[in-house]
Amino acid sequence: MLNIVILAAGKGKRMHSDLPKVLHKLAGRPLLQHVLDTARALKPAKLCVVYGRGGGALPEQCKGADVVLVKQEPQLGTGHALKQALPHLTKDGITLVLYGDVPLIAAGTLKRMLKPNQLTLMTVELDDPAGYGRIVRDDYGTISRIIEDKDANVSEREIREINTGIMAIPTARLQNWLSRLGSKNAQKEYYLTDIVVLAIKDGAKVSSIQPKHVWETLGVNSKTQLAQVERRYQRERANQLLEQGVTIADPSRIDVRGELTCGRDVEIDIGCVFEGEVTLGNRVSVGANCVLKNVKIAADTELLPYCVIDGAEIGGHCRIGPYSRIRPGTVLENEAHIGNFVEVKNSRIGKDSKANHLSYVGDTTVGKNVNIGAGTIVCNYDGANKHRTVIEDDVFIGSDTQLVAPVTVRKGATIAAGTTVTRNAPAGELTLSRVKQVSVRGWKRPVKKAVTGDR
Ligand code: UD1
Ligand code: CA
Repeated sequence: MLNIVILAAGKGKRMHSDLPKVLHKLAGRPLLQHVLDTARALKPAKLCVVYGRGGGALPEQCKGADVVLVKQEPQLGTGHALKQALPHLTKDGITLVLYGDVPLIAAGTLKRMLKPNQLTLMTVELDDPAGYGRIVRDDYGTISRIIEDKDANVSEREIREINTGIMAIPTARLQNWLSRLGSKNAQKEYYLTDIVVLAIKDGAKVSSIQPKHVWETLGVNSKTQLAQVERRYQRERANQLLEQGVTIADPSRIDVRGELTCGRDVEIDIGCVFEGEVTLGNRVSVGANCVLKNVKIAADTELLPYCVIDGAEIGGHCRIGPYSRIRPGTVLENEAHIGNFVEVKNSRIGKDSKANHLSYVGDTTVGKNVNIGAGTIVCNYDGANKHRTVIEDDVFIGSDTQLVAPVTVRKGATIAAGTTVTRNAPAGELTLSRVKQVSVRGWKRPVKKAVTGDR
C-alpha cells in the first residue's frame, strides 16, 4: 500500500502575494495540481495534502474524491506537518512525502524510491548548497544524518549533497519516529529530517536515490524561482515536441499550457501559446505569435502570424490570418479562408468560403463557396437577444454590407456593396439597398471665414 503526503502548508512569504504559494500557476495550472497529477500516476491508496493558514482557496482548487485535505495549524515544521496526515494513512507499506512547491518531479524518479522497509531519501549535489539540509555521511559513505543549513557548522556547510525533502518512509515505523521528534534546533521546529537518526538507531536501512535531472527537484519560493521553473518546464515540453518531429523555430519561445498534440511535419514559429487541448494535424503551420486554446486543426492548414483562436474546429487546407480572431463555437470546413481583422464567433463557415478582410461574422451559418466582402458586419445582437444569420451556398456579399439578424441570404444570391440586409434575400438575384448616387452640380466646398479685427 502506498500513501502519498504532499506538504503544502508553508507560508510562501517570499512570493509577496495573497494567494497561497502552491496555487500560483506553472504552465497555467496551480503548482499543487502538477504535484497531484504526478502523485496520481503512482496510484496511491491514500493521497493527502497538508495545507495551512491562508490556504482558503486551496480546498476548492484540489478537489477530488481521492484527496484528503488536512489543515496544519500552527505550522511547526515538516515533521509536525506529516504528523497531521498520519491518522488518514494506511498502516503498512510506504509513505512517500512530496512538496507542493516542487512541481517538476517526475513519476519515474519517484517510482525508484519505492523500496519496502527502508528509509529512502532523494538527494542531489549542488554547486551552491546554501539553504538546504545537508546529507552527512560517515567514512564508508553511509548516511548518518541530515543537518539543516541553520544548524550546520562551517565544515558541514561545505557538504554539497543536499536533501531535496522528498523521502519514502516505511509506514509501520512512521508513528513511532514522528512521536520521537524534538524541536531543539535553530528554528524550534519538528524537523522531519531528524527521522534519519531515529531510523539508524532502530536498525532500519537508510539509502538515497538521485533524480534523473537535478531540475526535477527545483522548488518555488519566489516569483524569480517560479519564472525559472516555468522556463525549465517549457523547455522540456519543447524538447518533447522536437523529439516527435515538430519543427519549432525557437524552443525557448513557445509556451504550452495544456496538451498539444501534433501530427507529422508540423511547423510552429516563434512566440506561440497553446492552452487547453490543442491538436494540430499533419503539415499544419502556425505563424509567429498565435494564441490557440482548445482548438482542433486538420491537415495542411496554414495560420499566418498573430491569430487568436479559442474553442474552434478548423478543417484542412484552411488559411487563417494574419490577425484573425476566431471565437468559441466556430467550425471552419476545409479550404475556408479567414483573413486579416476578421472576427468569427459561433459560426460555421462552409467549404471554400472566404471572409478575407475586416469583417464580423457572429452566430452565422455560411454555406459552401461563399465570398464575404471586406467590411461585412453581421448584426447579430439587437441589444437584448442574439439572432442567427444564414448565408447559403455560392452567395457573394459585396463589401460594407450589414446583415441584420435574423436573416437568410438564399443560394447564389448577390448582395451589392453597401447594402443593409434586413429581409431575406432571394436565391440567384441581386439584392441592394442603396440610396441612388447623385452629384450636386455647382456645389462649393465651405471655406474658413476671414478673421476680422484683432481678437
Ligand atoms: C526542508 C528540509 C531541508 C531540505 C529542504 C528542501 C526539513 C526540516 N528541512 O527545508 O532538509 O533541504 O526542505 O527544499 O524538512 N511545510 C509544511 N509545514 C510546515 C513547514 C513546512 O507543510 O510546518 C512544507 C512547505 O510548504 C514546503 C515543505 O514543507 O512544501 C518544505 O518546507 P520549507 O519551509 O521550505 O523547508 P526548508 O526549511 O526549506
Ligand atoms: Ca524550501
